[in-house]
Formats: sequence, structure tokens, C-alpha cells
Amino acid sequence: MGQLELAPLHFISGKLYILDQTLLPREETYIELSTKEEVFDAIKNLQVRGAPAIGVAAAYGAYVSMRKELMSMPSSGYVHEDLVTFGNVLRNVCDYLRSARPTAVNLSWALDRVQMAFKNSHATSIKSAAEALLEEATRIHQEDVDACYAMGEYGLSLLGREMGILTHCNAGTLATSKYGTCLAPIYLGSERGYDFHVYADETRPLLQGARLTAWELNRAGIDVTLICDNMANTVMKQGLIDAVVVGCDRMTRNGDGANKIGTSALAVLAREYDIPFYMFVPTSTIDLNTESGEDIEIEVRDEEEVRSMWYSEPMAPEDVKIFNPSFDVTPAKYITAVITEKGIVRPPYDINLEAIVRGEPQMEHIDFDVENLDEF
Ligand code: MRU
Repeated sequence: MGQLELAPLHFISGKLYILDQTLLPREETYIELSTKEEVFDAIKNLQVRGAPAIGVAAAYGAYVSMRKELMSMPSSGYVHEDLVTFGNVLRNVCDYLRSARPTAVNLSWALDRVQMAFKNSHATSIKSAAEALLEEATRIHQEDVDACYAMGEYGLSLLGREMGILTHCNAGTLATSKYGTCLAPIYLGSERGYDFHVYADETRPLLQGARLTAWELNRAGIDVTLICDNMANTVMKQGLIDAVVVGCDRMTRNGDGANKIGTSALAVLAREYDIPFYMFVPTSTIDLNTESGEDIEIEVRDEEEVRSMWYSEPMAPEDVKIFNPSFDVTPAKYITAVITEKGIVRPPYDINLEAIVRGEPQMEHIDFDVENLDEF
């Protein structure tokens, strides 16, 4: 495959490769996914993770899985029954992939889009039906690149040149198609001579902040300091933090945002210290069908992630009870602004989120030059 640009996934010559993020930062290895089981496992086991990247991987994943499934189907090409079967198999594949993780809405959003693309294609052959899936996956991928760039521009308009910025989990290049959501303004700013000082929470228990955020920012030459999650209060109190930036896995109609466990504690602390708390949420992550954060299903993961993973010896008694929710919900009232690719949204979120999804401009609309996308 040669030397690949850093990205959580690449689609090359009809093949889907993902960067196995469970091996980072020790090893940069891309693996091919070609069956629905491989795609499911890669999402469930966090080999590919981060809401937007999960969506893109699932869309391409549905396409490559269908190709595998089709090999075991009779292929007379233009027969109506074949397309009915194609639709049924596609629905089964998408339902299966959708069940890999519950919290990030981008997973079901992307799979819904792929299914809809098949429906709207009015394909007359299996070949053209498969092409419709691939075209939609490619579109989702490109839209995510563009959305991250736009969130970079909007986010940067909120940040000063030498700010100290605290972030949690990983919402950077590794979680998206490129640039990241909340790390996009940091990359964009550093290209333009900003001198940010980023503090990355290690993000227990899976250490995405240490293994991924600190790694990718460091690799890009950005000033980054790794802290344990329980040090956030101290760095805020010492005046080192001017803004908190985080991603989001699902934002509900009222502006509550689910993100990696520990995010909501930062929001509460930020309020205490009067530090702006910005959540970066592409419109693909806004779930207008869900009313509030109370309705979001929170993924609960394996106890061993807390007890023994990453340690040469278990760090807790073998029989101690462990609670391992993977996400928490930051109530809308703590979120200073929501940064989307269509603009910056301010409260009242129950009105303004729906408006931005519909494409209505917000007060802080800025015109940036999409030409810059090529340089970024
Ligand atoms: O469990 P993960 O690693 O998939 O959780 C990821 C996060 O919580 C990210 O912060 C979120 O997906 C925002 S992604 C740009």
C-alpha cells in the first residue's frame, strides 16, 4: 500500500483498510476489512472509533460486506427478484452493523443513508445497486472531510492566538476522515501561526487521550501536555486553560451532548471557572429524533477495561464490582456554544439546533474560502 497519509481509514482500489487504533501509539498498522463480521468487530473493539469515523467505516463496510454476501447469492444480474434479495440482505447487514455500538448516532445515520441510496437508485442490476452504495459511502466520506474543515474555521474564530486549551478523549484526525472535529481549529490555527498550548486528558479507562490525542498532536508538532483526568481542576485553577473543546457522539434536540465518559465533569468545572466550553458537533451527530440526553443509550463496556487492561498486572481485586459506562451526557446548560460545519449555534438549543440542521444561518456565520481546504 505504500506510505499512507494518517487517517483512520483508506478506501483504495475497492478495498477498505482501517488503521488499527488499538495498536497505537506503538504500531501504525492498517488492516483490511472485507466481511460484515470483520467490520462489526473493528467497530465494537474500537479498532476504528470516534463518531464520524465510525459512520464512514460503516458506510464503506456495508458496501464491502455486501460484495462478500453477493458472492453467495445467485447472480443473474437483471432479474427483479435478485434486487429484492439484495435489499433484504442489505437490511440484514445494516441491522447487524448498527448493533456494534449504541451511543454514536453516526453509525445508524450512515447506514440509513446507504440503505436509502439503494432505495432511491431504482437500480436495475445488482451491479448498479452496489455502485449506488459505494457512491453514497464516498459522499459521506467527502462530506465529513468538508465538515471538519468548516468546523475548524468556525472553531478558530472563537479561539485566541496563545490560548491554553483542554480537550478530552480523541476528537482529532483519528476520529474523523481528516483534521478532527474539536482538534480541527487547533490544526488550522497552528498552520496559521497560532501558538496553542493543548492539555489532553488521558481519558480513562481506554486512554484515547494518551494513546491517540497526545500522539497525533505531538506527531504534528503541536504543543501538547498530557494530564490524568483528575488533574483538570488543577490546570483550570492555575489559569492554564482558556477554553475547553470536546467532540460529541450524539446531541439531542434540546442540546444535551453525549461524549466520552468524563466530559460532563469538565463542563461543570469550566462553568465554575468561567471558562468557555465548546462542543464540536457535525450535523450528522445531531439527533433531532431524540428529545433529551435522558433518552440516549449509554454503552457499558467490559469490566476488564478498568481492572486489568494496559497493566502488566491487574490494578484491582479480581472480584471487586466494576462499573464501566463509556459515555456521559453533558446537559445543554453547560455548553457555551455548539460548533457545526454550518455555523456556530448558541442557546436556546431547542430552537437553534433544528434551525441549523435545516440550513438557516446563525448570527455568527462566517464566510471562509473553501479553496483553503486543499492547503489544510
Ligand atoms: O469510544 P470512542 O473512542 O469511540 O469515543 C469517542 C469520543 O467520545 C469522541 O470524543 C467522539 O466520538 C467525538 S468524535 C470526533
